[in-house]
Amino acid sequence: MFTIVTGAQFGDEGKGKIIDLLCEEYDAVARFQGGDNAGHTVVVNGEKFKLHLIPSGAIRKKRLLIGPGVVVNPLSLKREMEELKKRGFELKNKDLGIDPRAGVIMPYHILLDELCDRKSGIGTTHRGIGFAYQDKIGREEIQMIDLTDEESFWKKIEKITPLKEALVERLGGDKRLVRDEKRLKEYLEIGKNVKDYLTDVSAEVNERLERGEGVLAEGAQGTFLDVIHGTHKYVTSSSTISSSACVNLGVSPKKVDRIVGVVKAYITRVGSGPFPTEISSELGEKIRKKGGEFGTTTGRPRRCGWYDAVLMRKAVRLNGYTDIAVTKLDVLGGLEKIKICVAYELDGRELEYPPERTEDLFRCIPVYEELEGWKEDIRNVREISQLPKNAKRYLERIEELAGVPISIVSVGEERDQTILLK
Ligand code: GDP
Ligand code: IMO
Ligand code: MG
Repeated sequence: MFTIVTGAQFGDEGKGKIIDLLCEEYDAVARFQGGDNAGHTVVVNGEKFKLHLIPSGAIRKKRLLIGPGVVVNPLSLKREMEELKKRGFELKNKDLGIDPRAGVIMPYHILLDELCDRKSGIGTTHRGIGFAYQDKIGREEIQMIDLTDEESFWKKIEKITPLKEALVERLGGDKRLVRDEKRLKEYLEIGKNVKDYLTDVSAEVNERLERGEGVLAEGAQGTFLDVIHGTHKYVTSSSTISSSACVNLGVSPKKVDRIVGVVKAYITRVGSGPFPTEISSELGEKIRKKGGEFGTTTGRPRRCGWYDAVLMRKAVRLNGYTDIAVTKLDVLGGLEKIKICVAYELDGRELEYPPERTEDLFRCIPVYEELEGWKEDIRNVREISQLPKNAKRYLERIEELAGVPISIVSVGEERDQTILLK
């Protein structure tokens, strides 16, 4: 069984929770793109885990895989493994496999990200993601395997860094930081420790599937942060949609059994970029507080908005969702009225599908449908039949507009605050 889980919005949809929930029935969980810009939260019995690089199957002690399409900051990896070990989840090489071809986020990537983000106004996570992927595409990448061979590592550094130094200097940064020897030696130290973890993740995923095992592919970020199909330039630097799992893990599309879209009952965005249904009034602040909408990775306040069925229409198409998980329904409780955006208005025309140009999306005015809210606290509900009538009506409308069945409704951050359908 090969299942892919992706975010259907701008990230932070609750993928961590849903992956932890679903993976009970799988043997392995594999991250296929992104890096430690991701922040996936899993809460079990009041214990909160914030995962950035380690797949969200960690708490269920599944086999964890970091694929060749991921970019790895070795310091973050080390920190996260140490943190998990302290909490009783020591990861040995039988528990975690890292592909030797995964890209390494170098100190100069982070430096360049910080320097450029000031000018570009994208509002990145400053984790060096874009610049690490640039080097993959530009074929100047240092890969995890290079950290295990000192001689070739220093040779590559010699070759690559003069241009990076020139660039940093040009951007007004301190070029001495590019070849920060202390930091690079730290990288090599980590290389010695992760050597035993390196394994061909693509081969392992394929072998597991051939044996009839279950593999869950864990997406990071969200559909509209996709580098090709998202709201360019306000996107991340990898492909975040379901087919990216096949490309990045080297698994044939023929092998895919299920594709789950995770979507909030409303919508949030961190960083800049178009956001048609953003609520700029006090209500947005209220939802932010109730939903705890602050970035898992950077702590930045998330922008909040009404559920956007126009974006969802596109997300369903791009990902080919077989079913969707709707999260954070509890957060909408207590509102008199709840809005759903069913179309956009642009230059006097009504659109049912997002325009292809970001500039146009900035100008779209949402057309709303208004539904009655509910007052009840639904966090203890475990059966769909126990939900207030208006909450059920709201879900039905989401399902209708998406054209895809809802399989999971999440009513709280805990693993068991969940309603399973079907
Ligand atoms: P991810 O990046 O998609 O994994 O999402 P994040 O973990 O960054 O953000 C989702 C946040 O919402 C986390 O703090 C979760 O613990 C929390 N969460 C997930 N599902 C629910 C839910 O149904 N209700 C509430 N109130 N919180 C939830
Ligand atoms: P998870 O996996 C929400 C956003 C950043 C910025 C843009 C580019 O937790 O859903 P980057 O550092 O990737 O170059 O930043 O993408 N972004 C996310 N927003 N959730 C994430 O991950 C994100 N990862 C990146 O805020 O707007
Ligand atoms: Mg997140």
